[in-house]
Amino acid sequence: MRPVIIAANWKMHTTPADAAELATTLAGRTNVPDVERVICPPFVCLAAVRDALAATPAGLGVGVGAQNVHHELSGAFTGEIGAGMLVGLASWVIVGHSERRRDAGETDELISRKLQRAVEVGLRPILCVGEQLAEREAGMAESVVAAQLGGSLAGFAEDPAALGAAGLVVAYEPVWAIGTGRTARGADAAAMAEAIRQAIGGLGRGFDAIATDLPVLYGGSVSAAAAGEFLAEPAIDGALVGGASLKVEEMAGIVARASLTAAGRRAATGRGG
Ligand code: 13P
Repeated sequence: MRPVIIAANWKMHTTPADAAELATTLAGRTNVPDVERVICPPFVCLAAVRDALAATPAGLGVGVGAQNVHHELSGAFTGEIGAGMLVGLASWVIVGHSERRRDAGETDELISRKLQRAVEVGLRPILCVGEQLAEREAGMAESVVAAQLGGSLAGFAEDPAALGAAGLVVAYEPVWAIGTGRTARGADAAAMAEAIRQAIGGLGRGFDAIATDLPVLYGGSVSAAAAGEFLAEPAIDGALVGGASLKVEEMAGIVARASLTAAGRRAATGRGG
């Protein structure tokens, strides 16, 4: 049974003081069974969020994630953050977000190196993939995403099991759905989630073992109102939430819906409800 995961990507929002308060409130309002919750604040807010969550019983089950990590562990890289520096501050990390591919020129080759650094220090990676609108309209969405996966996971060809051990999560975020208020259709996102598992399974020996149990999240204008469309799909294991993750009522609604999905999965596997 795959887990149900709701991850909040706060992007470039909040100060350390705001972040602590929001994390505490969110933890209290989303404290439902069987949903893995993760908050990914800006780097400078990681310590505040970690401490705020540790200070409230509801926060104990909430993971903390970074939004990026450098592709080298250390060195002369002014302004950058290495994976080892995140240990103790975060246990998750988002890698390859489309905003970084767009604004920081991140390539699949670079993303592969970032993933390797994350896995080396024991961070749980959320790898983001997704097509542009023109690519979807041209019928190329699945091939574009498959190419992103192939490039981003190339660094693990010798040791795919390391990815499984690290608990790799893939977030399918169609670029045209991010911050636009326009979501993908649930059925299309579910088809992509299956295509993602197939593409990873086809990467070679050892990757097939990761593919079946791989959690795939949907991201792109997820709100409390829109979440049900995705969380009703058995192929989709949760959401990576941007704008709505800064709004307590929205997140309470999204996580409550995710809890229904988790309960349904539990019941379906005969583990009670
Ligand atoms: P929005 O939910 O604001 O569309 O952002 C999605 C996203 O990019 C999450 O990583």
